[in-house]
Amino acid sequence: MKVIITGGAGFIGVNTALAHARAGDDVVVMDNLSRRGSEINAKLLRAVRGVTFERGDVRDYNSVKKIFAAHRRTSLLYHFAAQVAVTSSVENPREDFETNAMGTLNVLEAARLLKMKTPIFFASTNKVYGGMENEKFVRRASGWASPRFPDGIGESYPADFHSPYGCSKGAADQYVRDYARIYEMKTVVFRQSCIYGINQFGVEDQGWIAHFAIKALTGGRITIYGDGFQVRDALYVDDLIRLYRLAYRNINKVSGEIFNAGGGASNAISINGFVKLLGRKLKISIDAKYSDWRHGDQKVFISDNSKAERLLGWRPRFGVDKGLEKVIVWAQENRRTIINALSRR
Ligand SMILES: NC(=O)c1ccc[n+]([C@@H]2O[C@H](COP(=O)([O-])OP(=O)(O)OC[C@H]3O[C@@H](n4cnc5c(N)ncnc54)[C@H](O)[C@@H]3O)[C@@H](O)[C@H]2O)c1
Repeated sequence: MKVIITGGAGFIGVNTALAHARAGDDVVVMDNLSRRGSEINAKLLRAVRGVTFERGDVRDYNSVKKIFAAHRRTSLLYHFAAQVAVTSSVENPREDFETNAMGTLNVLEAARLLKMKTPIFFASTNKVYGGMENEKFVRRASGWASPRFPDGIGESYPADFHSPYGCSKGAADQYVRDYARIYEMKTVVFRQSCIYGINQFGVEDQGWIAHFAIKALTGGRITIYGDGFQVRDALYVDDLIRLYRLAYRNINKVSGEIFNAGGGASNAISINGFVKLLGRKLKISIDAKYSDWRHGDQKVFISDNSKAERLLGWRPRFGVDKGLEKVIVWAQENRRTIINALSRR
């Protein structure tokens, strides 16, 4: 099969592209290389058989249409290209909107007007549920907990876009879903939690698991925003890719659906708990300081994955322990490259 991946030189994109290439598929990667580290991933991909790299920007409709037209006969289109940091979205909401909301409309419209029959998979986010300020949370030794939703948040939880990033991704999420209804296109929305893994050039603003691992390995100091008792459900990227694969195989069943996709209750860990785990794995004491809470930061987010389990038989296989080991090995083996990529302005 042949797939197109917008944002294919980013973290989730490169891992998805490599998984397809390994399976013998043709992969078209479209990326504007704006993310630090994406040029390293693009270099990696250019050396892989079956991968074509197209430099393009999803904000530019003509460029999107031209690239899609050249690869019209495609089995699957992943739309990952995005401005991914909440902090940057607060600083520059227009650019965030143009990339995430308008960029997504450009992708949908290009596919629609070119009459592509391709299913479209969109990487949405748990941030569409907002800060959940009306929920009562209790602080336990293991971190913040939600007595009302011990098994996590399901797709029917009310959306409440918070932060420009939440708004732009939330708008895109709804457009993608609606194109399945209004234009009968085959689209699936994945509201992803905290995804982590190799080839993730994590920075303070996004990709905190890789960021913490890289910082710890390079002797840097970590800043924890908030009290560190925030709980996240970490999902290793290979598990997410397996979910995409299952969704593709069952596309007629899941077209038009929205899925929450995270590590779930069994992979929930507080930031403080993660820092301890990281220190144990590296056999060092981690240098961390605390700072103010960030906009829209959820005290706890655990994805209730039961819909994906029910419809697709999917549940995460990687535990945080095993996933973190893979990230550490990757960061150790690529230390110099990572430092150089992240110091680029
Ligand atoms: N990583 C996570 O934990 C997570 C969680 C929820 C949702 N998501 C979503 O998954 C997708 C991929 O995330 P990621 O972690 O791989 O991020 P990433 O930043 O590593 O990848 C995004 C890629 O998009 C590219 N890009 C940015 N603006 C572009 C534009 N205008 N045109 C073309 N390419 C552009 C970047 O260069 C980068 O390579 C994003 O849509 C993100 O919102 C990620």
